[in-house]
Amino acid sequence: MIEFSGCDYLGLRTHPAVIGAARASLAADGLGAGASRATTGEHPVHLALERAVAGFLGTEAALLLPSGALANLALCATILEDQPTVWVDPRAHTSLRDGLRFGGREVPRPEEAKVILTDGVFPSRGEEPDLPALLAALPADGHLVVDDCHGTGVLGARGRGSVNAAGLEDPRIVITTTFSKALGGAGGVIATRRVIRDRIAAHPLHVGSTALPPAWAAAGLAALELLRNDATIHGRLLDRIARARAALAAEGVPLPPLPLPVFRFDVPAAGTDGILAELKATGLSVPHIHYPDGPPGGYLRAVVSAERTPEEIERLAEVLGRWYGTSSAHLSP
Ligand SMILES: Cc1ncc(COP(=O)(O)O)c(C=O)c1O
Repeated sequence: MIEFSGCDYLGLRTHPAVIGAARASLAADGLGAGASRATTGEHPVHLALERAVAGFLGTEAALLLPSGALANLALCATILEDQPTVWVDPRAHTSLRDGLRFGGREVPRPEEAKVILTDGVFPSRGEEPDLPALLAALPADGHLVVDDCHGTGVLGARGRGSVNAAGLEDPRIVITTTFSKALGGAGGVIATRRVIRDRIAAHPLHVGSTALPPAWAAAGLAALELLRNDATIHGRLLDRIARARAALAAEGVPLPPLPLPVFRFDVPAAGTDGILAELKATGLSVPHIHYPDGPPGGYLRAVVSAERTPEEIERLAEVLGRWYGTSSAHLSP
């Protein structure tokens, strides 16, 4: 089956340089970190990766955590401790909303909030928040938290993400992201000012967690180096997105304005089995997504990664275009 699924947008999950870095670290450092970074679990590669992330995302410092979800929780637990007013974008990832359990007083409008929580991009909706407007609404001592798990490696110059794509640089912006999507591995990170980074590092959610395995940090470092040093990695993804958009448009399928690798097709319940069978018969793996807050029939989520060939993309567009033309299904705007 040809994979049009998952979030390995750049194909780095199987890149020889990424695998090689992890393999070398496994041989040298073993499988796990063995302890929290607050005791004996810290490895030089953790610090090297934090420096690399801060440099890549343009922040003063960064803090690694074992996952993107935990990064969001540890950040919220730290900055919401004093019960500030907080606004959460209703489309934001569940781990940001879960962060409200740690504190904060929710307000209905971003203009009333000292802390704003949003994702940098909402790929299944083809939408992005108005980051400049959110920043403009923020007080001088506020925080604009941008979960950029789906923007990292995709948007901005060489995949520097949604904040870079919006042309923003501001010490009030805190970026959280994951190594588990476009960067191909695992682990979470918070990029922010040093003083906030150090406060989160002292929080029990960080102190009480075993450090990210060094091999995963080494893989993350290799992935970031590839993005920084090899323009073709990100360029290939942009090319594949452009090809997919052109091929789908040629089939008469309307497209969302944001050029993202994720293409969502809403499925009427009656048509689901037919399209899934046709995709399977054509050798195309496109998952049928059923999230609790999604449409009743679910939707198809086709991801066009940098690894897909132009021919494979044509084949996907042909099947989806044919199906689109003969049913009431539609690509979500
Ligand atoms: C927007 C967003 N934030 C956070 C996460 C969590 O990241 P991780 O899988 O590294 O915990 C995900 C998905 O996994 C996500 O899609």
